[in-house]
Amino acid sequence: MEEQRLVSSEERIEDYSIEQELRPSFLNQYIGQDKIKENLRIFIDAAKIRQETLDHVLLYGPPGLGKTTLASIISNEMDVNLRTTSGPAIEKPGDLAAILTALEPGDVLFIDEIHRLQRSIEEVLYPAMEDFCLDIVIGKGPSAKSVRLDLPPFTLIGATTRVGMLTAPLRDRFGVHGRLEFYNQSQLTSIVERTARVMKIGIEKKAAEEIARRSRGTPRIANRLLRRVRDFAQVLHLKEITYEISQRSLEQLQVDKMGLDYIDHKLLKGMIEKFRGGPVGLDTISATIGEESHTIEDVYEPFLLQIGFIKRTPRGRIVTDQVYQHFGMEVPE
Ligand SMILES: Nc1ncnc2c1ncn2[C@@H]1O[C@H](COP(=O)(O)OP(=O)(O)OP(=O)(O)O)[C@@H](O)[C@H]1O
Ligand SMILES: [Mg+2]
Repeated sequence: MEEQRLVSSEERIEDYSIEQELRPSFLNQYIGQDKIKENLRIFIDAAKIRQETLDHVLLYGPPGLGKTTLASIISNEMDVNLRTTSGPAIEKPGDLAAILTALEPGDVLFIDEIHRLQRSIEEVLYPAMEDFCLDIVIGKGPSAKSVRLDLPPFTLIGATTRVGMLTAPLRDRFGVHGRLEFYNQSQLTSIVERTARVMKIGIEKKAAEEIARRSRGTPRIANRLLRRVRDFAQVLHLKEITYEISQRSLEQLQVDKMGLDYIDHKLLKGMIEKFRGGPVGLDTISATIGEESHTIEDVYEPFLLQIGFIKRTPRGRIVTDQVYQHFGMEVPE
């Protein structure tokens, strides 16, 4: 279900090749996330002056906000290689050892979905992060001995949508923590305009704003909606994307004024109709609408919480008055 969803913040196959081209390469092209950017600017400059590697960086936040993009920007700014892997791709300690020993001094190692690393592999990572060395055991049984292997200094960048699932020892070994926030309307408008420039299509300011408004604070969704709207414009042989066509095509694509689609509607209306607006537990919502609870928690809910449509209480989730207003329903007593 989630894969078919136009406003899913998760990466879809259609995004993959295009996202590479749309990714800004340097910090000054990266829009928004000012706090993270300012910090990184300072740490990067300082590391360069001292001719040291950058401290390990942990990036976290909902999908599609620019974690992978930042990792590649950091490697560009530091002018080093970027090696990319992910938590689930590293199956045994030896896999990680192979990656680490192949690094060149100063390289950035990017581990996506780092919360999915196995414990036994995490333990290999600790001395690597702290002292740039590997402890490997050679042989088996009583004759086994542990050997310490030096590694080139490197920067680990970990990315995760679920920072709460990271163990404390791993979290604490990152010197720089960056929490990505949802983007505001004007930042998203700039992102849409930038993407349009990269794709060499004209767009009216008001059209960019309309796409931004319906993008759930998420650049990946903004770029995806822009591509769909462009299709509509091209079929009509328009020279640029006008406000009118953006509005009509988004209407057609059933993305509402707030960027909500049928799944959000199903979730919110389910809570209203079946549970009088809550409080209702995550697992109950999950069973009612037939979506996995972790998908609800990681993908749908963060934005609904952000715009104040849902609130978390100790007794479960509740919908707020704004939801009734959004659907044109009467707010209950
Ligand atoms: N600050 C930004 N400025 C311009 N474009 C951005 C920015 N952040 C993200 N993007 C665009 O959004 C797309 C998605 O970003 P990215 O892949 O970095 O997200 P992510 O946080 O790694 O997502 P996931 O959690 O799914 O891995 C990229 O193609 C990039 O073009
Ligand atoms: Mg990513």
